Amino acid sequence: MADSDDEQLRKEVDEVLHGTKRNQGPQVFEQNGRSDIKHVMGVISGKGGVGKSFVTGILAVELARRGARVGILDADITGPSIPRMLGLSGVHATGEDEMLVPVTTKGAIKVMSANLVLESETDPVLWRGPVVANAIEQFYSETIWGDIDYLLVDMPPGTSDVALTVFQSLPIEGVVIVSSPQDLVQMVVGKAVNMANMMRVPILGLVENMAYLTCPHCGEKIEPYGPSRLAETAESFGISPLGQLPIDPALAAACDEGTIEDVLPEGLLPDAVQTIIQVSELMDAALGRG
Ligand SMILES: Nc1ncnc2c1ncn2[C@@H]1O[C@H](COP(=O)(O)OP(=O)(O)OP(=O)(O)O)[C@@H](O)[C@H]1O
Ligand SMILES: [Mg+2]
Repeated sequence: MADSDDEQLRKEVDEVLHGTKRNQGPQVFEQNGRSDIKHVMGVISGKGGVGKSFVTGILAVELARRGARVGILDADITGPSIPRMLGLSGVHATGEDEMLVPVTTKGAIKVMSANLVLESETDPVLWRGPVVANAIEQFYSETIWGDIDYLLVDMPPGTSDVALTVFQSLPIEGVVIVSSPQDLVQMVVGKAVNMANMMRVPILGLVENMAYLTCPHCGEKIEPYGPSRLAETAESFGISPLGQLPIDPALAAACDEGTIEDVLPEGLLPDAVQTIIQVSELMDAALGRG
């Protein structure tokens, strides 16, 4: 990453950390008495549109298929895409005792998203920073999550205020970085790595999305961007490679139609799923939790 980029990011982080909010004390959002969230994991990227939400969805489905109790907090307040992907278009979250109740998918994944509390999901979200930060707090502290083993946080693109609020205020135990093949060449990954490092959030590893495609006729693996650089990029940052996903028109269609729980093949991103589980177990052991 260019030095100036680095400096800019550091400035943004400093502004948030040392701005007015900081003077009111560190903002740590608390769980409520009707939630028992054991582990919070984030999904981030260095730029938008590389498949964060898609990867969040895959990880949630895979963890749920293994019997874990999974929630998704859609922190992409102004561009939420989780509800549609999971077949919750047009569905509204309800309220109870002044708190929000997440919507549960048919695969038993609990979801809270701006799209579930807006009148119409095509309404543009024009909220300003503080309101957006407030929404994150509501989705975490004022939502009745119940028992959750893994709360996955789908992050907004880039290093916005919201991303920093999430890092600062939620007890994130690790982040998965999602990248596209071009990112691996252009060092976009470095931006995400730096952000996580500055916020002192452990990086679980790197997923390469849209890495290749499979010829529908002969099954040959085609690498339109050339051989993968996942391994060398991960190594250069000292992080783990967590697997690749192909460009798959059927999966893109499933995202649009809200059917990923039905059509996702079994066993996608096994290393990423395993890492989340292992890190969680290590945290439990370190904290003496059963
Ligand atoms: N491996 C894939 N194969 C086919 N389509 C994909 C794949 N990954 C993502 N897509 C499609 O690309 C689009 C962008 O993906 P997604 O919304 O997950 O990205 P994002 O990083 O969350 O974007 P944003 O930064 O806007 O939140 C979606 O329409 C999704 O269906
Ligand atoms: Mg997204």
